[in-house]
Amino acid sequence: MSKNIALITGVTGQDGSYLSEFLMAKGYEVHGIIRRSSVDFRERIAHLEGEPNFHLHYADLSDSMSLVRLVGKVQPTEIYNLAAQSHVQVSFDSPEYTADVDAVGVLRILEAVRANHLEKICKVYQASTSELYGKVEEVPQNENTPFHPYSPYAVAKLYGFWIVKEYREAYNMFCCSGILFNHESERRGETFVTRKITLAAACIAHGKQDCLYLGNLDSLRDWGYAKDYVECMWLILQQDKPEDFVIATGIQHSVREFTILAFKYAGITLEFKGKGLNEVGVCIAGPSELIGKELVKVSEDFYRPTDVVNLWGDPTKAKEKLGWNPMTTSFEKLVEIMVKHDMAKIAADNAAANIRKTNLAEYLEKGIVK
Ligand code: NAP
Ligand code: GDD
Repeated sequence: MSKNIALITGVTGQDGSYLSEFLMAKGYEVHGIIRRSSVDFRERIAHLEGEPNFHLHYADLSDSMSLVRLVGKVQPTEIYNLAAQSHVQVSFDSPEYTADVDAVGVLRILEAVRANHLEKICKVYQASTSELYGKVEEVPQNENTPFHPYSPYAVAKLYGFWIVKEYREAYNMFCCSGILFNHESERRGETFVTRKITLAAACIAHGKQDCLYLGNLDSLRDWGYAKDYVECMWLILQQDKPEDFVIATGIQHSVREFTILAFKYAGITLEFKGKGLNEVGVCIAGPSELIGKELVKVSEDFYRPTDVVNLWGDPTKAKEKLGWNPMTTSFEKLVEIMVKHDMAKIAADNAAANIRKTNLAEYLEKGIVK
């Protein structure tokens, strides 16, 4: 039997790291694309480096030739195109770059497959998004819900979705989009709202931060666990026929609800008072020094020019055709995992800082450092 060879773009990201682990456990040879940066910061995949079936290559989604060369060299049987400028708010500040990577980048991947004559051999998974539904036209959203993108990020991803569909029909390629709703984890980037909240809850509980500033607390999301979602990416490529799938839990919560639960797992009970920019989250139970303090405030800085506020996915097709269970990790468990991780991280950071302080005091006393 021929070997399964996966090429993952975005391997250093949240999903890329979980997908690498998942595919390696299935016996795949995994190749990942990395970008040159002034600091080599590959925390999420550091534990995989050095494994005989894990290989990293420099390339960039904005550089066609690097992709054509790499696809030719690796000869993948499956490509998972996860690379993207993935932050919606940042797409308002860098719209052209976002379009180049998130829209044209998808085309470059498809063309790299064609240029190497791998259309019949190599399947392509495209990381599409619930942001396509944007200013939603119905709830919950399924594969037939009309798209209404509502940010430069979503508009770029819409091109990615349609070009994948076009290449599927025009060239008979096995390429599909997973329309994934928000999925989070202890590896989530620190500026996405869930991780920003779990880290802040941990910092506040450890006395390292006074207050958390957020934007729209009413925004509703269908949040799942990233580790569960990467299985779907693989399942989508194992079907007999290439198709697009909505991947979601089918359950919706607000940013405010996420915040209350995260602080609860950090040992702090919050009560929200006031409205709009004047809304605050006050500590009503927990460590005595925090009682009565306003620990969460709203800042206009985190409002978006246009915000997507009502995402709620219907995973029926994924359940029926992929046999996938969207409830493997509940919302409560997800928040608990993230807060536990961040509480331990802040405690470890504190301990390391204390050791540094003690060492420095000792060195100063001995006259080693002046
Ligand atoms: P992430 O943590 O932000 O990771 C993004 C990855 O893309 C990183 O590895 C990044 O590399 C890489 N990348 C960015 N620009 C690149 C470029 N020009 N060339 C090559 N690589 C580049 O994102 P994620 O949460 O894992 O999401 C994975 C994909 O799913 C993204 O396409 C995202 O838009 C999509 N998606 C995510 C969600 C979600 O809730 N997480 C939901 C729906 C869709 P560096 O490490 O070098 O920056
Ligand atoms: N980031 C952030 N920071 N968002 C905030 C904040 C804040 O301080 N306060 C409120 N929000 C609201 C945002 O306005 C948005 O409505 C919601 O929280 C979620 O924001 P993010 O966590 O940044 O994620 P996102 O939904 O915009 O985008 C993520 O999910 C998409 C799938 O729906 C990203 O992972 C995208 O790449 C992905 O496609």
